[in-house]
Amino acid sequence: MDFHRFARWFRDSSPYIREHRDKVFVIIMPAASLQQDLLGKIVRDLALLHVLGIKQVLILETTTKARLSCIATVKDLFARGLPSSRYRNQAISVVEETFDSAPPFQHGGDPSDANAHQKKQGDHIVQTLDHGSIALIAPAVGHSTGTNSYEETVNNVATAVALAVSADKMIVLHEPASLVGDPDIVNSDLSTDAFQTILKQETLEETTLHRMHALLHACRQGINRGHIVSYETDGALLAELFTADGSGTQISTDDYLTIRRATDADTDMILDLMKADIEQDRLVPRSREMLRDDSTTVFLAEHDNIPVGCVALYSLDQNMQEIGTLLAAPIHRDRNIGSRLLSRAETEARKRGASHVCVFTKHAVDWFKRHDYQPSRLESLPSTHLAAYDHERQSTLLIKELE
Ligand SMILES: CC(C)(COP(=O)(O)OP(=O)(O)OC[C@H]1O[C@@H](n2cnc3c(N)ncnc32)[C@H](O)[C@@H]1OP(=O)(O)O)[C@@H](O)C(=O)NCCC(=O)NCCS
Repeated sequence: MDFHRFARWFRDSSPYIREHRDKVFVIIMPAASLQQDLLGKIVRDLALLHVLGIKQVLILETTTKARLSCIATVKDLFARGLPSSRYRNQAISVVEETFDSAPPFQHGGDPSDANAHQKKQGDHIVQTLDHGSIALIAPAVGHSTGTNSYEETVNNVATAVALAVSADKMIVLHEPASLVGDPDIVNSDLSTDAFQTILKQETLEETTLHRMHALLHACRQGINRGHIVSYETDGALLAELFTADGSGTQISTDDYLTIRRATDADTDMILDLMKADIEQDRLVPRSREMLRDDSTTVFLAEHDNIPVGCVALYSLDQNMQEIGTLLAAPIHRDRNIGSRLLSRAETEARKRGASHVCVFTKHAVDWFKRHDYQPSRLESLPSTHLAAYDHERQSTLLIKELE
């Protein structure tokens, strides 16, 4: 076993484990995710979340015909505990709950009656969670209000439940986990406004739209985080919840950041961003041509469409890529922007098949060491690049092995 790798992975994940403990997650499971072959893996990961102290309300979308057998299958899978662990055969209790999310006018016209009714139902679910059970809600088709489709009703129930139990997160299992067709736009983090814009711009199926509008509504009403996570990719839920990069799309009501590949039209903005750090000798000046060169990829971090940082990946040879031009705008420092940009550039280097990434820096040696970069000898570089090394600048070379 590679202890070093395991320890690093565990250390990186542990803040999230602590962060999520005792939090309430409402998880929408559409019919497609409930197919036998997928469900087993999904429940295995949900069981792990349960063991880690995360309280869960599962909202199942089933047909009338499949409803009872689906509930039984889910309960049966949880009854097996956490396979391949000492928790195996330690049944995880799943309690079926009902929730009526019908709008106030269906309760005789007094909105306060309907609100009180929803609160009462929410309190009941919270009690179930506090007793250590997972709550399961599978709205019956009969709950449909006539004007809504069944899927819309399920999603309305999910939003109402999330608000009634004051959930910390609402998660939609969905394929694919990104709603944007353009793979160059990395929309791993979206503000509610940016999310709404995507819902307007992209051509999405009606059921997807209902689901996403339910998520948007929940976030706007006070659920801090919404997530769209793949149900087909094994482990996607765990990666979304326990890694800095995540695996899907996160919708946040507060600190949101979009990282995208820069285009030629962004070059002036990037040169502008770099100016202060170049003057302070923290960054090496780069020409407009170099930033636009085919062998260079620049990523831009934007906060509410305002550029707040960038990083460039320069191709040295097949195995080695150079990270450079990494900066977080001064008033946005210490907000994880640098770390996320670095991680984005490393992911890109991995995609290109590189085994190592390197960086030259004068003032951020310790920062890179914290990200597992090791000070290295110049001879480790490809000879072609060595010739271009600026000896006068006396910056430190650090290299990281990519996994
Ligand atoms: C280095 C830089 C990109 C980090 O970005 P950032 O978004 O501020 O960093 P993060 O929020 O991810 O990390 C913040 C942590 O790193 C520490 N840190 C920030 N800059 C550091 C540095 N130069 N050396 C050591 N630690 C540093 C912070 O104190 C903070 O520590 P904490 O988590 O214990 O509070 C940013 O400081 C910067 O733009 N520097 C100027 C340009 C530069 O030097 N680029 C690197 C050369 S390519």
